[in-house]
Amino acid sequence: MPLDATDRGTPLVEMRDMRKSFGGIHAVDGVTLNLYPGEVVGVLGHNGAGKSVLMKMLSGALPRDGGQIFVNGEEAHIHNPRDARNYRIETIYQYLALADNLDAASNLFLGRELVTSTGLVDDAKMEAETRRIMARLNPNFQRFHTPVAGLSGGQRQSVAISRAVYFNAKILIMDEPTAALGVEETAMVAKLIDELKAQGLGIFLIDHDIHQVKALCDRASVMKNGRLVGTVKVDEVSEDDILGMIILGKKPEKGLA
Ligand SMILES: Nc1ncnc2c1ncn2[C@@H]1O[C@H](COP(=O)(O)OP(=O)(O)O)[C@@H](O)[C@H]1O
Ligand SMILES: [Mg+2]
Repeated sequence: MPLDATDRGTPLVEMRDMRKSFGGIHAVDGVTLNLYPGEVVGVLGHNGAGKSVLMKMLSGALPRDGGQIFVNGEEAHIHNPRDARNYRIETIYQYLALADNLDAASNLFLGRELVTSTGLVDDAKMEAETRRIMARLNPNFQRFHTPVAGLSGGQRQSVAISRAVYFNAKILIMDEPTAALGVEETAMVAKLIDELKAQGLGIFLIDHDIHQVKALCDRASVMKNGRLVGTVKVDEVSEDDILGMIILGKKPEKGLA
């Protein structure tokens, strides 16, 4: 049974006592955190705190030295990105792993192309499916026949996100998804995050912008030097409380979750 079987039911994901060292450096040192369906959990901390390493262990990109991962209350065996995908875990990065010379549909289905009954790549079906999912996620998106190199950062992120959603991601890891974006583009991604949350996905959001964390996240887990400082409900703490956790490693008096 998961440790945290509260009235909210079983977490979508629970990571327990996760550990990873590089040489003598404890990059992640006994971190336990969880995520519920329809929830956004911010993962915060200074550069080098261990946020990305923790998330890479969840996405199967890095092997772990210790710890357990539970998905829907069952221990998950994640040793590579394919395993993580089988548990419906997908990652969206700051720098988009899109093929610049291909259009949105080709990117959405890259490596997982739809084919006709005679085995040909079904471009029409892929475009129709891309239009269908974009209508849901980003209705303003119109540039279906443009190589994605010509799209704005926010539009590119919406292609990356639609790819994850199309393939039924339940758990989304977003590692600084707006770090390379301008104000309007960031607002577009924020809207997408709200939309995904409403659809019941769970999202781990690594983000340095405390305003954005306050606006988008339900809870925030703060890391410092590989350790978890604590997890708080963002509505019950101030921005200064969160900064105190990040900078000083100090837990607030109230709001711990
Ligand atoms: N592949 C790696 N090899 C060696 N050290 C690494 C590797 N990846 C991360 N680290 C180290 O692990 C620590 C945590 O890094 P990281 O998780 O990337 O931090 P952040 O919180 O900024 O995402 C840092 O000290 C970093 O230098
Ligand atoms: Mg990082």
